[in-house]
Amino acid sequence: MIVYFNGSLIDKNKVAISPDDRGFLFADGIYEVVRWYRSYFFAFDEHMSRLARSLNEIRIEFAEKPDFFSIAMNLVKENDLQGQDAVLYFQITRGAAKRNHPFPDASVKPTVYISLSAFQPSSDMRKDGIKAISLPDERWSRCDIKSVGLLPNILAKQTAVERGAYEAILIRKGNVTEASHSNVFGVRGSTIVTHPDSGFVLPGIARKVSLELCKDIGLSVDLTPISESELRQMDELFITNTSGEVLGITYLDGKPVSGGRPGKITNRLNDAFIEYREKRKS
Ligand code: PDD
Repeated sequence: MIVYFNGSLIDKNKVAISPDDRGFLFADGIYEVVRWYRSYFFAFDEHMSRLARSLNEIRIEFAEKPDFFSIAMNLVKENDLQGQDAVLYFQITRGAAKRNHPFPDASVKPTVYISLSAFQPSSDMRKDGIKAISLPDERWSRCDIKSVGLLPNILAKQTAVERGAYEAILIRKGNVTEASHSNVFGVRGSTIVTHPDSGFVLPGIARKVSLELCKDIGLSVDLTPISESELRQMDELFITNTSGEVLGITYLDGKPVSGGRPGKITNRLNDAFIEYREKRKS
């Protein structure tokens, strides 16, 4: 596998990250995930704006910014992924320097790692939906930054897996924020309800696309947090993320949601999402 590492395209086995890297020592870095659909990157510019925002929020600066789009296209070529589905992963940390909490000297360059791996999307999850559990949201209040510090997310996801579920819906002070690696939505009549942009949620790209599509297919959008009791009364529930797009929740904490099948509106949005991204091929 050929990856991009600090200015070069090299074999993944040749990547050498210093034990002094602040990503390793402090999770002092950010990441981004973009889907490659056989012949195009979906919403590349939106992902790059979010990456730029994450960098800006944690004050990582480049003396010379790499050309991410040409690197991504080179990775498609070098890894022979034209015609296949894949996931593009970016990780940028504040670089390697003697362990010390304040930012290192300005001469320390960020560490940049980019990989493109083949990915098989699950048609079963799209068709049959997923199971979710609810758990307390134990994260910080800057979840809008796509930080590599994901320990609470990982612990929540692991608990979900151990309980036979795919996702953990996170509850902060009685309200749903999002899930361990996706945004969460409820359907009330013909209204889609989800948490507004804030420090408690990641502004998901699949969320943004889905909310735009709602308008096109005649659904209204209510950006208010869903309370824990409302969560259990919604007509339908679904999640969105880059790898799964729109996935219906069929069981929550072991109880069926929308009769244990992805709901009608969820399916409609799912179809609209696929139609939209096919149209955005470039
Ligand atoms: N996760 N919320 C959280 C906490 C996430 O980690 C993600 C994505 C999302 C959805 O964002 P998007 O629609 O831009 O993928 C929401 C990625 C896929 C990951 O961690 O691998």
